[in-house]
Amino acid sequence: MEVYSRATMSNSIENNQWQPDSWRTCQATQQPLYTNEAHLQSAIEQLSSLPPLVTSWEVESLKNQLAAAQRGEAFLLQGGDCAESFDECTSDNVVQKLKILLQMSLVLATGFKKPVIRVGRIAGQYAKPRSADEETRDGVSLPSYRGDLINRMPFTVDDRIPDPELMLRGYERAALTLNFVRSLIDGGFADLHHPENWDLDFVGESPMSAEYNEIVKTVSDSLEFFESIAGDVVRTRRVEFYTSHEGLHLPYEQAQTRFLSHRERWYNLTTHYPWIGMRTADISGAHVEYFKGISNPMGIKISATVSDEHLQELIQKLNPNNEPGRLTFITRFGASNIEDHLPRVIEAAKKTGSPVLWVCDPMHGNTETTTDGYKTRRFDNIITELQSAFRIHTESGSHLGGVHLELTGENVTECIGGARGLNESDLAKAYKSQVDPRLNYEQAMEVAMRIAGQFNG
Ligand code: PEP
Ligand code: CO
Repeated sequence: MEVYSRATMSNSIENNQWQPDSWRTCQATQQPLYTNEAHLQSAIEQLSSLPPLVTSWEVESLKNQLAAAQRGEAFLLQGGDCAESFDECTSDNVVQKLKILLQMSLVLATGFKKPVIRVGRIAGQYAKPRSADEETRDGVSLPSYRGDLINRMPFTVDDRIPDPELMLRGYERAALTLNFVRSLIDGGFADLHHPENWDLDFVGESPMSAEYNEIVKTVSDSLEFFESIAGDVVRTRRVEFYTSHEGLHLPYEQAQTRFLSHRERWYNLTTHYPWIGMRTADISGAHVEYFKGISNPMGIKISATVSDEHLQELIQKLNPNNEPGRLTFITRFGASNIEDHLPRVIEAAKKTGSPVLWVCDPMHGNTETTTDGYKTRRFDNIITELQSAFRIHTESGSHLGGVHLELTGENVTECIGGARGLNESDLAKAYKSQVDPRLNYEQAMEVAMRIAGQFNG
């Protein structure tokens, strides 16, 4: 195709040979085995010709804001479901998710006194890494469920065979989600700015209610102040909102990767801000090869197993020109391991000279299973990891520039603790996640208040 051949002529020297499907020459982990190659290619071709979901202007604008966060001038709030499902692409779910992220961002902005960049794990978070390729039940082994983009959850042969059509269904769901998000945002979503319209009953249940009420009052006062000097500008001001998902399923990411001749660069236009998961960050693997060639800002999940050398190689390969805003490290060590690893990775990154945005994911290192078999996370461990991250960055002459949370705007019971004191026996009441446990509306708001409280004194 014309756009592709042009790229080979004008892309940068190290990316000279790079193409959206170059990853196929590398070891690709966490990919399903499609049984019909022609069907796969046809789905990729259809996806390649459909309009992109996001634009490079939005992507570059986000990169600039992330560069500001790297300098300490903004803070990133990234959150959403562990995995989205096609069935849950409903009006209510989108509204609730946008609402919680917007309200949290106002609490955080009040605490930090700096802009908060809002990013959803939304409109494409349809593929999940799995620890085993197959699942066995009663002596029958079938491919593991890898997310709605790839196969279906029911344990039957037909459902579990990877189906390339699902990439098209995923693209459509993402487009529907994004269309609604954009309309809500353009329409102002204005009343949600005001804490009078928030569901804050939980505040009264907390031993920290005085502090939380103080934060809510500060949010109200600041909004009133701005409204009084700016008419109703604050109420109607357009809110910015960006999308992200794990760039896991490479055929999908590849299909929407476009060379933009006006920028002379490649962009993944399924999302503004893809990330590389912990299990696919091998330096010579297919995911790093794919991410190397795109110009989007990108996250990389960093766990305790990462060596200093690996981290430095990732920086060199993914940000060879030290571009501001390009790289985000999302650390997920766990409350009891963060002390052992965060200081060393901060030092390792410093030695490369590349700017990095440091974000704390206090979810994935704090997952445990209850005796009843529920995967859960304790609110206290989440807060402890976050507080340690803030402190360790400061002690290391760095700063924490954002948080990455698994949350929902719904009233689920998947994580333990918080103002309402949810305990193990409450989990059965409304446990909906098929994958990782999420903070519910109240727990997520409380996390935002705890973070804001640290800076509001
Ligand atoms: C996730 O963010 O849902 C995820 C799988 O992350 P990690 O790679 O950190 O386990
Ligand atoms: Co998860």
